[in-house]
Amino acid sequence: MSSQGIDPITSVGAAKRLDRARFDSSLQESIDAILRNQSASGAIVASPDFAQYHFCWLRDGSFSAFALDRAGEHEASARYHAWVNDAIGGISGIIDDVIEKMLRGEVLDPTIMPPARFALDGTSVIDDWPNFQIDGYGTWLWSLGQHLTESNQANVPREWLSSVARAARYLATFATTPCFDVWEENGSAVHTSTLACVFGGLTTAARLLDDPDLLESAKIVKTRLHQAVMNGVYAKSSENSDVDASELWLFTPFHAVDIGDRAFSETVATIEDRLNLYGGIRRYATDVYFGSGAWPVLTASLGWHAVATGDIEKAKRCLAWVAAHFDHDGLLGEQYGGEGRDALHYDEWVQRWGNPAKDLTWSYAMYVVLLIAVDEAENRDSSIATASDVSGGKR
Ligand code: BGC
Repeated sequence: MSSQGIDPITSVGAAKRLDRARFDSSLQESIDAILRNQSASGAIVASPDFAQYHFCWLRDGSFSAFALDRAGEHEASARYHAWVNDAIGGISGIIDDVIEKMLRGEVLDPTIMPPARFALDGTSVIDDWPNFQIDGYGTWLWSLGQHLTESNQANVPREWLSSVARAARYLATFATTPCFDVWEENGSAVHTSTLACVFGGLTTAARLLDDPDLLESAKIVKTRLHQAVMNGVYAKSSENSDVDASELWLFTPFHAVDIGDRAFSETVATIEDRLNLYGGIRRYATDVYFGSGAWPVLTASLGWHAVATGDIEKAKRCLAWVAAHFDHDGLLGEQYGGEGRDALHYDEWVQRWGNPAKDLTWSYAMYVVLLIAVDEAENRDSSIATASDVSGGKR
């Protein structure tokens, strides 16, 4: 619970109370889009219209499963988690092996590390992708914890326990090791938002497995995260003192910092100031990927955080920005830059990989998450107002 008494993420069954009629059809379209992008295996494809994204990333998929739970689609979310359980089961030897090597002090080759993304059938893909990204394993554990809470399950299904324990052990072992960041870049640094995802995963796993050692590992991560403060803000990474919009997740949803943390408030303010593109939020100042447009995922993340701080007006502005970017077919893409993006780099990436993804699953997911959080906050505010009207009348 935040100091404002608003926790946008954990109230059970909240989505079922949502008066969907009050919202634009984009809510249902978004839920449908996530379901449409879930394959029979349970995997959630990052984007069906962009060849490079025909895989299921633990990061995108786990935020998408969370959105499904928020929307009351628990069965679909359970199928995703079952798929992750199998995918992790399929690489159990790799995970155990790298943990043992690390504990023996061996130098590890990043190309043999557990993958960030899997083929939709759950097999790992051997290619030159920068796979060593630990954040997705943390986000998965966090998302699984949310799934169990939202679907009123007290315990991890027995058949998933070994994957949960293995992912947690992997995170505990590599928590502060340099790896690629949430944008799959900068493999030689320790990234602040990655630390937050790992923290969220470890604290969830500690609870699910009732394992206090994992909480100790989470504390180490938190200490390391606090060391990331430079010039009054949380630096993007151990190698970059600028901010990164994925640091918005430090409090919402991973609770790796306190909401009153001054450096974190400054970080959010700096993100809003420096990374704003026509009301949307870019990834980081020197980004060049498709000319660095603003991302629905990040704009919705800013709104989600604004709900946590009680700034519903800001949250609604973020919601409106994302809502305005659905196209005529109801599709929501990865990023939007217009005239404001860097045209040269945009062209360069279009030549390399074609147009940016127009149908990006976790864009819908974060929109759903924000929309439901705003709706809940408004309902809560109006019921608080009604209660005080009543008590005011009695006095
Ligand atoms: C983003 C990742 C994302 C992947 C698939 C990449 O461009 O940087 O964060 O997981 O696309 O959507």
